[in-house]
Amino acid sequence: MSNKTLFEAFGVQSPNADTTKIPVSAACKTGSGTNWKEIPFQFEFGALRRILRNLDQQHPIWAHGPSGCGKTELFIQIGVRLNRPVHVISFGEESSLRELLGTMKIASSTAEVAGGDEKGLASVAKALWTLARRGLGLETHFQYGQLPLAMQDEGAIIVLDEFNMAPPGIAAQLNRFLETGSVTIPETGEVIHRARDVAIVVTANTEGGIDDSGIYAGSQAQNGATRSRFAFIRIGYLAEDLERAALTTRIQDLDKVMVAGDKPFSALAVETATACRALVNAGATSLPFTFRNLVNFAGSVKELKDLGDGFRDAYFDGLSPVEQVPVNEVFHKIFGIKL
Ligand SMILES: Nc1ncnc2c1ncn2[C@@H]1O[C@H](COP(=O)(O)OP(=O)(O)O)[C@@H](O)[C@H]1O
Ligand SMILES: [Mg+2]
Repeated sequence: MSNKTLFEAFGVQSPNADTTKIPVSAACKTGSGTNWKEIPFQFEFGALRRILRNLDQQHPIWAHGPSGCGKTELFIQIGVRLNRPVHVISFGEESSLRELLGTMKIASSTAEVAGGDEKGLASVAKALWTLARRGLGLETHFQYGQLPLAMQDEGAIIVLDEFNMAPPGIAAQLNRFLETGSVTIPETGEVIHRARDVAIVVTANTEGGIDDSGIYAGSQAQNGATRSRFAFIRIGYLAEDLERAALTTRIQDLDKVMVAGDKPFSALAVETATACRALVNAGATSLPFTFRNLVNFAGSVKELKDLGDGFRDAYFDGLSPVEQVPVNEVFHKIFGIKL
């Protein structure tokens, strides 16, 4: 592990400490290898400090915030800078315990049973002979699912991604895991303990309670006992200056290519994002305006050299006609164009 400072690794400054002097390893346990690539990422000091402390103490983290604000990537990029493996396990309504914990697999290949090169009757005879020799008991073995594999990886940060979408049975299993630090495989009775320094993070679009915005269909409320085990962190979209920095890092020469009035295009694009998010919060629209939408908007505008078409591509045409009305007003106010 390199002995980078907090400033070198995360680019953050602290109001009351010199981050150019503090080694990363003083803030959180570091590891000996990661499975992800470093990409440029804007960290916010306050949130980062809390996250590093909880990871270090193996206190499970419940990170919530709107879609596309960077929750998943945040933990991946923290893992990269700590040189620790990050296992992202994604959840949806279809997630099953088998997928999570593992499943019995038949060990023998069907080709072997089917009789190889022989044709017709000879092949059938050979297959029957093979099965008979085995006494019909097909050999099976247990194949670990995502969670037992991740748990056994020392220093891993396990991200249970979009956990609010997981069916209740899975949440119950997680609860036991958080309580005991181990999971039991139902089929084999094997108890798997987590390896050293393994940390758990949940990401969700909600605080774990009821989704009162109604934007996140399929979201499951978690019970109080589950929620009380976590350290909570609310992640929002980046502050405008940081989001602009992230955008211009992502789309090279953006402000050289596009000039739209007296402000740099990147500033106006971020203003648009902020205004569109305010409409979502107010219930006027239902499509989150993510950092990805912003990057797509700027990228399309840069390539198409057309503000309206870029915005249609990246966001506007994804809205219903009724939702387009207030967004059109926002766009007109900022760029002086009606779509
Ligand atoms: N702070 C940031 N700095 C740079 N890129 C970011 C930042 N936050 C989000 N992104 C980018 O935005 C995109 C969406 O992030 P993601 O982690 O998928 O969001 P979420 O998990 O909250 O839905 C990713 O491409 C990510 O790299
Ligand atoms: Mg995500």
